[in-house]
Amino acid sequence: MKTFRLRCIDSRCGGAFAADQKLFQCPRCGELLDLVHDFRGLDPQQLRDTWRRRHSSWAPLDLSGVWRFREILPFPPADYPSAVTMGEGNNPILEAPRAAAHAGLRRLRVKHLGWNPTGSFKDCGMTVAATQARKLSSRWVACASTGNTSASMAAYAVRSGMKPVVFIPEGQIAYGKLSQTLDYGALTIQVEGDFDVAMRLVRELSQETDLYLMNSLNPFRIEGQKTVLFELLDQLDWKAPDRIVLPGGNLGNSAAFGKALAELMQLGLIEKMPRVTIVQAAGAAPLFTMLREGREDMRPLAHAQTRASAIKIGNPVSWRKALRALKISDGDCQAVSELEIAEAKAALGRDGIGCEPASATTVAGLRRMSQGEGTVHLDAEEDVVAILTGHQLKDSEYTVGYHLGTLEGLDPSRFRHANRPVKVAADKERILELLGETGATRTASG
Ligand code: F0G
Repeated sequence: MKTFRLRCIDSRCGGAFAADQKLFQCPRCGELLDLVHDFRGLDPQQLRDTWRRRHSSWAPLDLSGVWRFREILPFPPADYPSAVTMGEGNNPILEAPRAAAHAGLRRLRVKHLGWNPTGSFKDCGMTVAATQARKLSSRWVACASTGNTSASMAAYAVRSGMKPVVFIPEGQIAYGKLSQTLDYGALTIQVEGDFDVAMRLVRELSQETDLYLMNSLNPFRIEGQKTVLFELLDQLDWKAPDRIVLPGGNLGNSAAFGKALAELMQLGLIEKMPRVTIVQAAGAAPLFTMLREGREDMRPLAHAQTRASAIKIGNPVSWRKALRALKISDGDCQAVSELEIAEAKAALGRDGIGCEPASATTVAGLRRMSQGEGTVHLDAEEDVVAILTGHQLKDSEYTVGYHLGTLEGLDPSRFRHANRPVKVAADKERILELLGETGATRTASG
């Protein structure tokens, strides 16, 4: 028998609640909630074998890189048939040799969560949160978003007959993301203000109405996102890397990774704890600032600033859980500049691996660390996996802006990977000349 319940993350409060309630914060003290599982009786080798075996199945639950790991999800087997899934997860690990060189590493692997159904890691959490929302007979689901959460939530909501309501900061989300939300039919509320303002509004509204909140405050989101590391470790044959590096915005994913690592250890699935490195954009780095100043309380930033709009967040709701992830993994937090983000993204591009700007903070952070400019030093031999969180086409304005040298606030003469398109007349001789300059030669028949 599977058992799980909601528990307040503050052990002094100790609040514990049944998981089938609509709760997004502790009703006693207002802190975040965790889903806690009783994993007694689960055998690590049996789990590994079961999860591997499911790779050869075409059943929808087995095809999902989230539901494949359903033993560690907070649902009894009776709920499995009503899972809302689109085959999320199953994201590859890719070698990134040019990005490795950029980061000062001998080898770097990236796990690309941008290759999910709606193009971001949010789908891994949303499949679980949508399943819970429907289980609680919710009609309306809501979130505040810098774009990816809203795109993902809207898709999973409409697929399961719920109405999505999204709160987005007006004029501050990338077009790729806005277009998805509109296509999926979400009620799209453009709030005058930034993400933090939108987040506060939707949090209050979900307490006062029957809107079901789908931000990462919702512990079911975290449960889905934790499977990313179960899948990663399965792909690595359960040999933990030295370090896992991910971007930090609202810090829900960092929270999920911390919980995943704690459970992987508790279940006996891994022997070594990898270090977690969270990377924030320097203009939106309240966690980084708190740690650098040696404080234990996060001071929200009034106006976060970064062109990596996905992580333009000054008051991340899950900071306490992210801090917990760093503590259990002996991890660290880095902050990177706008130029560093742009250069790292372009370096990943040269590996044939696009991503959105927020994802590139990972490679930028690694570079800082290996150059001795981070808060900890990175050895070139470390076995590192970088988590890329969003698809390149989410924010193509940014990419084109980089290559054309029109990215606001940045000096294009410092872009080392800029690749400007060449304008030529429709003249074959001129084009042959141009190709000749790149080293291409005429064949005998040409
Ligand atoms: N990368 C991408 C592409 C994101 O969209 C986000 C967050 C993050 C990283 C940071 O993850 O918030 O869990 O620390 N996007 C949210 C959204 C805020 O609304 O789409 P986090």
